[in-house]
Amino acid sequence: MPEEIDTGPLVRAALRRGCHIFLPRVTDYRRYRMQFVAFNGRLRRSRYGISEPQTGRVLPARQLDFIFMPLVGFDLQGQRIGMGRGYYDRALGYLLRRQHWFSPPRVGVAFDCQQVLQLPTRAHDVPLTAVITPTGIRHFPRPMASSGTPA
Ligand SMILES: Nc1ncnc2c1ncn2[C@@H]1O[C@H](COP(=O)(O)OP(=O)(O)O)[C@@H](O)[C@H]1O
Ligand SMILES: [Mg+2]
Repeated sequence: MPEEIDTGPLVRAALRRGCHIFLPRVTDYRRYRMQFVAFNGRLRRSRYGISEPQTGRVLPARQLDFIFMPLVGFDLQGQRIGMGRGYYDRALGYLLRRQHWFSPPRVGVAFDCQQVLQLPTRAHDVPLTAVITPTGIRHFPRPMASSGTPA
C-alpha cells in the first residue's frame, strides 16, 4: 500500500539468494482471509491495488521460515497495527491459541517514523518478533502466554 514500505527489494534480494518466496493473496474479501502463495515471477493487481500471485503452491503460514510484514505502526513492545482489517492477525491467529507454537518469526518492515510508544491492542493482535527499519533491527522479547481466549 502507498503508506507502507516497499517489500519489492526484499523479495528480489531473497530470490537472488535462492529463497522460496510466498506472497499473500486475498481469498475472501468479506471475511478478510488470505493465503500464502508461491511467487513464480508473475503478479496481478488485486482489488486493493496490491500485487499478488494468482496461482501457485499454497503453504500454511506455520510452515513459512519467516514472515515479513509491512505495517502502519508498531510500538516498543512489538505490537503491530495494520491497515485495520486484521488479515495478518487472522492468518497467524493459531499462534495465540497454542502456547508453544512460535513459528514463523514475524518481522515487521517499517519506517522509523512508524514507531510509537504504545499501541492500544486487543486479544486478537499477533505481536511481532522483530522489526527492521532503515536504521536497524529491534528484537522483541517473547510475551508471556496470555490466559485469556483471543477473539
Ligand atoms: N483472529 C481473528 N479472529 C477474528 N477476528 C479477528 C481476528 N483478528 C482480527 N479480527 C478482527 O478484525 C478486525 C480488524 O483487526 P485489527 O487488529 O484492528 O486490524 P489490523 O491488525 O489490520 O490493524 C477487528 O475488528 C478484529 O476483531
Ligand atoms: Mg491487529
